[in-house]
Amino acid sequence: MTLTINSTLTLANSMKMPIFGLGTYLLTGNLGQKAIEFALKIGYRLIDTATLYKNEKIVGNALRNSKIPRKEVFITSKVWNSDQGYSRTINAFNKSLSNLGVDYMDLYLIHWPVDGKWKDTWQALEELYNKGKVRAIGVSNFYINHLAKLLQIASIKPMVNQIEFHPFLYKKDVLEFCQEKGIVIESYAPLTHGYKFKDVKSPQFLQMMEKYNKSAAQLMLRWNIQHGTVIIPKSIKPTHIRENADIFDFSISDDDIQLLNSINEDFHSDWDPSD
Ligand SMILES: NC(=O)c1ccc[n+]([C@@H]2O[C@H](COP(=O)([O-])OP(=O)(O)OC[C@H]3O[C@@H](n4cnc5c(N)ncnc54)[C@H](OP(=O)(O)O)[C@@H]3O)[C@@H](O)[C@H]2O)c1
Repeated sequence: MTLTINSTLTLANSMKMPIFGLGTYLLTGNLGQKAIEFALKIGYRLIDTATLYKNEKIVGNALRNSKIPRKEVFITSKVWNSDQGYSRTINAFNKSLSNLGVDYMDLYLIHWPVDGKWKDTWQALEELYNKGKVRAIGVSNFYINHLAKLLQIASIKPMVNQIEFHPFLYKKDVLEFCQEKGIVIESYAPLTHGYKFKDVKSPQFLQMMEKYNKSAAQLMLRWNIQHGTVIIPKSIKPTHIRENADIFDFSISDDDIQLLNSINEDFHSDWDPSD
């Protein structure tokens, strides 16, 4: 099937989720808002934010300035660790809605599996979902051990698991576990947070860039979506925002996908959830 910037995946509750969007970690202030507005202008339809990023207000401003109908943009936010627990999560969610200036969220995630808290937090997410305040609920940074415990107590299964995922951190076990359970993987730091750009200038990678006439960033992003994931690359620069979206006119061959799978080195640009 041909993928486009408008392609969607179907979540376990039959809701459609765009496979491509903008990450917003470190996008703040006027420049951050302009970057989000630019992304929406050129066709991005998913914006990933979190309480932690302190930018929900500018995400809401960008959405309103874009004049794109609310229902056409998929907004994700996350409950931060210090806000976890049942009542605190409900309060944090309502604050996020108010910061964003919207009356529902498309996806709300538990940012990290905080010991002793995540069960109550999940109960709060289920309640928000049952009340129709959020259209889908999920988790982030949950590996198989966390997911197995959550699946034992959940009345509603998580629909999405947002984890760090790129060729240098090919979490095949988590991907396969989630696919089997009907949980969509959303890849954060799909560009390794920028850390691995020098390393990808290896002869093999350079050859592939030449073969496909694409940049290292574009190859990494395309590798990701060909694994059936959702990607949320972040950039503040219009040139990069445009370049990252220009990955729907080519396809990486199966052999080259295997080659990219093999460069995995369990590199985490963020904390490792198994620690
Ligand atoms: N759930 C979680 O725990 C979690 C953790 C981390 C991230 N996230 C989410 O995932 C999103 C993406 O991850 P991330 O922001 O950490 O890292 P990323 O998207 O992997 O990489 C962003 C870095 O790459 C650079 N970049 C972007 N496009 C580029 C291009 N075409 N060529 C060269 N450099 C490029 C950016 O610089 P410029 O801005 O200068 O272009 C920035 O330094 C976040 O923004 C956030 O929404 C979630």
